[in-house]
Amino acid sequence: MIRPETALFVFSLLAFQASSVNNVKLLNVRVPNHTVLGRNTKLECIYDLQGEPLYSVKWYKDGKEFFRYLPKNEPKIQVFEKPGIFIDLDKSNSNEVVLKSLVLSSSGIYRCEVSGEAPSFQTVFKDTSLNTVAERPSIDGLQLEYNVGEMVNANCTSSKMTFHTHLIWYINEEQINSTIVHGPYFKIHNTDDELLVTTVLGLSFKVNDSHYRSGHINLKCAAQLESIYLHSDEQIIKFTKHLPTESIMSNTVRLANKIQATSISIQNTPKIILLACVLLICLQNNIHFPISY
Ligand SMILES: *[C@@H]1O[C@H](CO)[C@@H](O)[C@H](O)[C@H]1NC(C)=O
Ligand SMILES: *[C@@H]1O[C@H](CO)[C@@H](O)[C@H](O)[C@H]1NC(C)=O
Ligand SMILES: *[C@@H]1O[C@H](CO)[C@@H](O)[C@H](O)[C@H]1NC(C)=O
Ligand SMILES: *[C@@H]1O[C@H](CO)[C@@H](O)[C@H](O)[C@H]1NC(C)=O
Repeated sequence: MIRPETALFVFSLLAFQASSVNNVKLLNVRVPNHTVLGRNTKLECIYDLQGEPLYSVKWYKDGKEFFRYLPKNEPKIQVFEKPGIFIDLDKSNSNEVVLKSLVLSSSGIYRCEVSGEAPSFQTVFKDTSLNTVAERPSIDGLQLEYNVGEMVNANCTSSKMTFHTHLIWYINEEQINSTIVHGPYFKIHNTDDELLVTTVLGLSFKVNDSHYRSGHINLKCAAQLESIYLHSDEQIIKFTKHLPTESIMSNTVRLANKIQATSISIQNTPKIILLACVLLICLQNNIHFPISY
């Protein structure tokens, strides 16, 4: 059995719907929860005109209009430059706006506002927040420990972005700007709707005694985007100086002794012969030369 209260509720709901049959409805404003710095993102505005002709769709960021779609105008789209907003016009229309190459200042409150035609010009809007998060570059290729004489090879890799980024290596907080840095190299990633690129900067150097004496060094890299520096985690690498193992060492010592011994005997052979000869000559002289005063 339907209770009277429920019946009343259903009735009033129907009455409300009947009276607002031509009301423009904004169903949803869809924006990804987290957008990544350097990527593109799609803002969607889902509305139901309920049979009314569309007059306009307007987008605002933090209260300032940046995009306007008027189907009766030519061109239909009008954009207003705002910091942190770069619009992909080819992919934007009455239902969506594609923002290119997001920066941190792209974060904010986005509003979609939809209006029906004259004479009512019913207007509805909805706000949603967009947060651009930064993905830091990462370091790979490192071992935990290096022996003196070994090569340290590492790469600093940026996150996937729609553009190249400037990478910087730091050794012990000091910016490295020399031949031990190589690159940058670019890796292209082709996704369904955007062309992304990662930037890679290499670092290679040979561990020498000065590194060994300091025991360890701190490596870090950063991606520079406009005035922002996104730092990687700091990597600490240790240097050791392993002595040769005992068996290798004793072989080396034995070999060295042998070489030394051989060299002594070779070097001394002529001396012994010379001595013998001198002795022989002396003896011969003593025998054959008469002593005369
Ligand atoms: C995004 O946020 C909404 C509301 O805060 C939440 O319901 C939804 O699960 C989130 N989506 C993702 C993918 O995190
Ligand atoms: C660094 O990146 C370059 C280019 O992608 C690659 O050829 C090299 O093998 C990488 N080195 C390390 C240590 O990962
Ligand atoms: C650092 O690199 C820049 C170019 O990127 C160059 O002009 C400058 O001379 C370098 N400085 C040092 C100290 O190597
Ligand atoms: C050790 O290597 C570093 C980095 O390659 C270099 O700057 C330094 O001059 C080297 N030191 C010696 C003593 O060779």
